[in-house]
Amino acid sequence: MQSFSAIPSISLLLLATLLCFLNLAVSEEGFCSAPSIIDSNSNGNTLYSKVINPTLSPSHLQDLPGFTRSVYRSDHALITPESHVFSPLPDWTNTFGAYLVSPAMGAHFVMYIAKMQESSKSGLPPKDVERFVFVLQGPVTLTNVSGIGQTLMVDSFAYLPPNSEHLFESFETATLVVFERRYAYLENHIPEPIVGSTDQQPLLDTPGEVFQLRKLLPTTLPYDFNIHIMDFQPGEFLNVKEVHYNQHGLLLLEGQGIYRLGDSWYPVEAGDAIWMAPFVPQWYAALGKIPTRYLLYKDVNRNPL
Ligand SMILES: *[C@@H]1O[C@H](CO)[C@@H](O)[C@H](O)[C@H]1NC(C)=O
Repeated sequence: MQSFSAIPSISLLLLATLLCFLNLAVSEEGFCSAPSIIDSNSNGNTLYSKVINPTLSPSHLQDLPGFTRSVYRSDHALITPESHVFSPLPDWTNTFGAYLVSPAMGAHFVMYIAKMQESSKSGLPPKDVERFVFVLQGPVTLTNVSGIGQTLMVDSFAYLPPNSEHLFESFETATLVVFERRYAYLENHIPEPIVGSTDQQPLLDTPGEVFQLRKLLPTTLPYDFNIHIMDFQPGEFLNVKEVHYNQHGLLLLEGQGIYRLGDSWYPVEAGDAIWMAPFVPQWYAALGKIPTRYLLYKDVNRNPL
């Protein structure tokens, strides 16, 4: 009896498995597809859509009451989207901001997300403060002191030296990540305004490392910080277990992986922001099925004394 029924049930199983694969191939949402973090998070194909429209409750967390992946320590912080608190940005019009890094943490810069609503305008940074803006969702118009306007799409950026008048305007909705820092003056060196887009920046050599690197600002002495765009294929990781005097503010734009900060190992995904104090041990491995891209503030070109 047993051996008689075994054959049909094996072939039924095979048939079911085959149907399963067919179904999976056709819809990717079939009854037999395993729940996947990647699938449930892909909400549209627009660039950086996970940052501007983050998954607040990944299926494996089920939006547990009181649960957050955010962590705040003396030498690092991980600020995840379910912890963002937006409020009107002082000096801006129709714009909500969430500060993710600020001097209260020990940083010498601020990093914030600015959500521009319809008919919104930027305010100016305080005196002697420089500003870097990266567009996560556009377009926005940047008008400089000569009254000349430029349209910035997603993946574009602008650097405004201290005390340079300018205006960002959005007629619909736009999302920016903004870095500001009190400029560290250096005699005989004057930074210039810069406007560019990520894809026009050349890939740079990364000796001993596998990730792809672009720098959005010149590496010359007038600039006291730079913004790096770093790309990793799944499975790639930092070779150097970095410990250095520089500070970092990081926004994960695409992908997921593990960030090591001090003695803690954090699963991270697009939309997460990280603050790294000087000398915190840091390391990243890209995991999952899509490449990682992150944007990284780093202070450079100044004597730490
Ligand atoms: C304003 O922007 C235009 C176009 O990029 C540029 O040619 C001009 O030099 C800028 N003016 C100033 C004062 O930066």
